[in-house]
Amino acid sequence: MTDVPTDPTDPTGPADHADPGGKPTAASRTTLSTIMSQNDVNLLGTVHGGVIMKLVDDAAGAVAGRHSGGPAVTASMDEMLFLVPVRIGDLVHVHAQVNWTGRSSMEIGVKVLAERWNESTPATRVGTAYLVFAAVDENGKPRRVPSVLPDTELDRRRFQEAQIRRTHRLARRREIQELRARGADLG
Ligand SMILES: CC(C)(COP(=O)(O)OP(=O)(O)OC[C@H]1O[C@@H](n2cnc3c(N)ncnc32)[C@H](O)[C@@H]1OP(=O)(O)O)[C@@H](O)C(=O)NCCC(=O)NCCS
Repeated sequence: MTDVPTDPTDPTGPADHADPGGKPTAASRTTLSTIMSQNDVNLLGTVHGGVIMKLVDDAAGAVAGRHSGGPAVTASMDEMLFLVPVRIGDLVHVHAQVNWTGRSSMEIGVKVLAERWNESTPATRVGTAYLVFAAVDENGKPRRVPSVLPDTELDRRRFQEAQIRRTHRLARRREIQELRARGADLG
C-alpha cells in the first residue's frame, strides 16, 4: 500500500482542518553553504560526520519551515549516506527540497556536495539523506501542510521514491510495535 498526497478535504486529519492548498517544490528549495574549519575536525583529521548531519538537519529544517509556513520538527532521519570524506577547507553545499508531503509530515531530500574553497574544480557529491519533518502548531501538535506540487520530471520521480520509503517506514514501525506487543511480558 502506498500513501496518497494530502487530501485537504479529509476530515480525519490533524486538528487544523483548514485547507492549506498546494505549493510547488521550487518555492522552498534551499541551499546552505559553509566552509569547513578546524572546529569541524574528527580524530582522523577529516570533518566529523555529526557536523555534516547538523548542516543537513538545518537545511532540511529551513525547507520544512518554508514549505509548511511555520514551525516544523525533525521526526526521523534515515538513509544518511557518507560517500566521500570531507576535508578542512572544503566548501560544503547542502541542497534540500521537499520530496513528498502527507497530512502533517514532509519528506525532505538532501544532497551534500563539497569543493575546495579556493579552487574552481567541480564539486563532488559527498552525501545524501532523507528526513521526515512534522509541522507543528503552537502546542507542538501536528498540523496540516500544503501538498507539494512537483515541478519537473525529476521531482515527480523523487515524489514516487519518497512514497516507497514512507511505506517501508510505516511497515517497519508497525512490525516492531507488533513484535513488542507480543513479547510485552518480557519487560
Ligand atoms: C514528530 C512528532 C510531532 C509526531 O507527533 P505524534 O503525536 O506522534 O503525531 P502523529 O503520529 O500524528 O505523526 C505526525 C506525522 O509525523 C509522521 N511521523 C511521526 N513519527 C515518525 C517517524 N518516526 N518517522 C516518520 N514519520 C513519522 C506521522 O506518520 C505523521 O505523518 P502524516 O500526518 O503526514 O500522516 C512528535 O513525535 C515530536 O514532537 N517529536 C519530537 C521532535 C523533535 O523534538 N525533534 C528534534 C528537534 S526539532
